[in-house]
Amino acid sequence: MSSIQHPHFRFAYDDAGDGQPILFIHGYPLNRKMWQPQLAEFYTLSHRVIVPDLRGHGDSSPTEGEYSMDLLAEDCAYLLDQLGIKQPIAICGLSMGGYIAFAFLRKFPQKVKALILTATRAAPDSPEAKEKRIQAVQQVQTSGLQPIIESMLPRLISEHTQHTNSSLIAELQNIMEATSIPAVVGDLKGMMSRPDSRPLLADIKIPALIIHGKDDALIPLQEAEEMHNAIHGSRFVIIENAAHLPNLEAPSQFNSHLRSFLESLP
Ligand code: MLT
Repeated sequence: MSSIQHPHFRFAYDDAGDGQPILFIHGYPLNRKMWQPQLAEFYTLSHRVIVPDLRGHGDSSPTEGEYSMDLLAEDCAYLLDQLGIKQPIAICGLSMGGYIAFAFLRKFPQKVKALILTATRAAPDSPEAKEKRIQAVQQVQTSGLQPIIESMLPRLISEHTQHTNSSLIAELQNIMEATSIPAVVGDLKGMMSRPDSRPLLADIKIPALIIHGKDDALIPLQEAEEMHNAIHGSRFVIIENAAHLPNLEAPSQFNSHLRSFLESLP
């Protein structure tokens, strides 16, 4: 792990390998450790792998207030600048990381060479989803992280994964416990106010790969299919027996699809 000082927080990240840079952006309420199977494989394969802990997550220190998707995308751009990365990058975002990837693409289109959208959606929150976020903010402020972890954990991975990889549950619990309360609140407020990214999809001209777990209980498969239909020329991969974390539930399948996509890039 390395870190730099951002003007507002200590910014932790992993940076390994040489070659085409690929930025992995984690989901909520997780951190860079969720990309361990990808970091381990891709830095040896002619890629420079950059994996930040978003502010307030993992080893990055928190700030108060809303973490808008734009703010988190700007943080990622700041890190790339500080690391001297000038060439366009591939971005792989999972769930909230995908929302941030859309914000990054809107703000810095010239910095993006390819997009990997996993377990994510382009649509904004529905009124019901916003209401749930408001309740979750109240819950975390009054009762801390545990109730959120307990309600999310079983929904993140498929029944198949629960039966075949029980150690992943403990790992995820540790990852979630490393998220600060300001970050949970900041993420929830940022996600509920994120814009609709669907109008962006038809304008995406760079290569795009969409990877989704078939059993995703948080973001239905159909939403990924709709993104695929709207992004011209995109590849679409469905991972069987995986839910919201296909990169951890089926790492070798996930990596092999990602590798073949990266190898196809001009
Ligand atoms: C995530 O995994 O990042 C979140 O579940 C996304 C969301 O709550 O919309």
